[in-house]
Amino acid sequence: MAKVKNWQLKREMAYKYEATPPKRQIAYVFDTNKCIACQTCTVACKTTWTSGEGEEHMFWNNVETKPFGFYPLAWDVKILEQLKRQSWSAEGAYIGETIFEAAPQGEEVLGYMPAKEDWSHPNLGEDEVNAPIGNITSMSTEGGSGAHARWMFYLARICNHCSHPACLAACPRQAVYKRPEDGIVLIDQERCRGYQKCVQACPYKKPMFNPKAGKSEKCIACYPLIEKGIAPRCVQTCIGKIRMTGFINSPDKVDSDNPMDYLVHVAKLALPLLPQLGTLPHVYYIPPIHVDKTYLSQMFGPGAGAAVETYKRREAKTVGLLTLFGSTDHWVDKFKVDKGLAAAYQGGKKLVTVPVKEPIVFRVFRDEKLDVNRHSVT
Ligand code: SF4
Ligand code: SF4
Ligand code: F3S
Repeated sequence: MAKVKNWQLKREMAYKYEATPPKRQIAYVFDTNKCIACQTCTVACKTTWTSGEGEEHMFWNNVETKPFGFYPLAWDVKILEQLKRQSWSAEGAYIGETIFEAAPQGEEVLGYMPAKEDWSHPNLGEDEVNAPIGNITSMSTEGGSGAHARWMFYLARICNHCSHPACLAACPRQAVYKRPEDGIVLIDQERCRGYQKCVQACPYKKPMFNPKAGKSEKCIACYPLIEKGIAPRCVQTCIGKIRMTGFINSPDKVDSDNPMDYLVHVAKLALPLLPQLGTLPHVYYIPPIHVDKTYLSQMFGPGAGAAVETYKRREAKTVGLLTLFGSTDHWVDKFKVDKGLAAAYQGGKKLVTVPVKEPIVFRVFRDEKLDVNRHSVT
């Protein structure tokens, strides 16, 4: 085992291979507060990439209702239970083992293989709340913290294109590779022999086995689009405008005009999913503001509570950047917020400008000029 750096854990960790960072690392930010679980992203991905025979059960993009939604069944519960003690120091360093460090004898990674039927109910638990409603009659909050007594939220999930991918470490054929130009993690379909160690190892359960082809497949980050400067299908089509794609720098090379760097490293608003697992995932989530903080810390790490407070402060630069989500079908490498306008750029070219605050126009009921009555007057 080599030693690699993991800035999300604030420590080094054991990994099968030496770190060879890509020239750029693809990243996504998802704002969970805006997701409406319309599943447009899921369908966009499905119809683009997995409509073939043997792919019926595959959802490279899925949206599950937390805490009881899972695809495949109980994926996070099972890996967290196996990992046992997980805690963080006061300085935010991870104390406990990663899935690589906790690997059983003879395995590269601590994991498990879902049963076939575990993939069969991607919408299980949809819209269920954390506890029985009982006789609660209002949307009461607990202790003024803003967290609801009863809560649920939608978690959109794709492959995290991790820096230390478990799928890659586990494959005995070295069929999984990380592209040096953009950090996208792919399975080489020529090399794959269907051993499914990738399925067993990925804690997020994002490689999926195609029984027809006898090989595994996974989210490809829509790389043919990325290469043309365009955002992935799931990002482009998102109705709730919860998503933005770009490239993230490591914390020692932060560019505060880069939207990924700003949200992850500067504002510390967007957090990795289950960072304690150790794969250094690159889909970053803005946590929901109404959910129990203990649950959020388990799911997004020790910065979850602070991220919620930052979100609620609604600082102008952050609000401006969030306004740009869903405003362009390209990935974004720079942004600017100035004089009430937010602009997104790629390669120095402006992609779009949007007003941070939508203007409100009050119209008179009776327009004599056009000889019409307008019924939108309040
Ligand atoms: Fe591999 Fe899973 Fe990470 Fe994707 S999320 S790169 S499949 S370990
Ligand atoms: Fe599917 Fe592309 Fe989104 Fe991956 S990036 S989940 S392949 S639409
Ligand atoms: Fe390797 Fe997974 Fe194929 S373990 S051989 S990429 S099924």
